[in-house]
Amino acid sequence: MTEHDVADLSPRERARIIKTAVSPRPIAWISTRSPDGVDNLAPFSAYNYVSSAEPVVSFSVPAGDRADLKDTPRNVLETGEFAVNVATAALAEEMDATSATLEADENEFDFAGVERAPCETIDAPRVADAAVTMECTLYGTMTVHDRLLTLGDVRHVHVDEAVQTDGQIDATKLETVGRLGGPYYTDSDPIDLERQF
Ligand SMILES: Cc1cc2nc3c(=O)[nH]c(=O)nc-3n(C[C@H](O)[C@H](O)[C@H](O)COP(=O)(O)O)c2cc1C
Repeated sequence: MTEHDVADLSPRERARIIKTAVSPRPIAWISTRSPDGVDNLAPFSAYNYVSSAEPVVSFSVPAGDRADLKDTPRNVLETGEFAVNVATAALAEEMDATSATLEADENEFDFAGVERAPCETIDAPRVADAAVTMECTLYGTMTVHDRLLTLGDVRHVHVDEAVQTDGQIDATKLETVGRLGGPYYTDSDPIDLERQF
């Protein structure tokens, strides 16, 4: 066993350990619209749910001046709205392609060939073929060291009938893709073990 005092590690070494140890991570494929009407789509795996009875989800990005922020958090801060499309195997390549850095006036839907559909409750596009999309409004933000954590209240959910059984979302039908450390992805085939308690 190798022991590490985090204080002795470089930022790169710390990030490598954290991003590999905290895995697989779910992927929020987040769609937004800028105040100027430019659609945006990008994946974020520093992502999870925070509460479920009154559902709130969160994602984080490098913090910085508003001008340095990635397009997604900037749009969220300026409009108060975003949609989380669940990343699944069927659209994994397109999801990966939307992490390309484009100019703020270019949109990743067209770049990656992803079909858009309108959201119901927010002025943002969603991924038309996503099995699940959660429409969110900004709950708040928190700066954590060098990251900006953004929290969103889930207001409306689209669930494809194809991932439902008896009218309920079915984990065994939703083929989510997760992110591992480095450049690796994983699928979500259940292992041969069910919860006992
Ligand atoms: C699977 C995957 C997960 C990612 N997760 C994050 C993340 O959690 N936070 C982040 O800042 N960037 C993350 N990225 C990088 C962003 O997707 C990338 O910077 C993207 O260009 C941001 O787009 P935007 O400027 O349009 O918001 C991830 C990339 C991939 C491929």
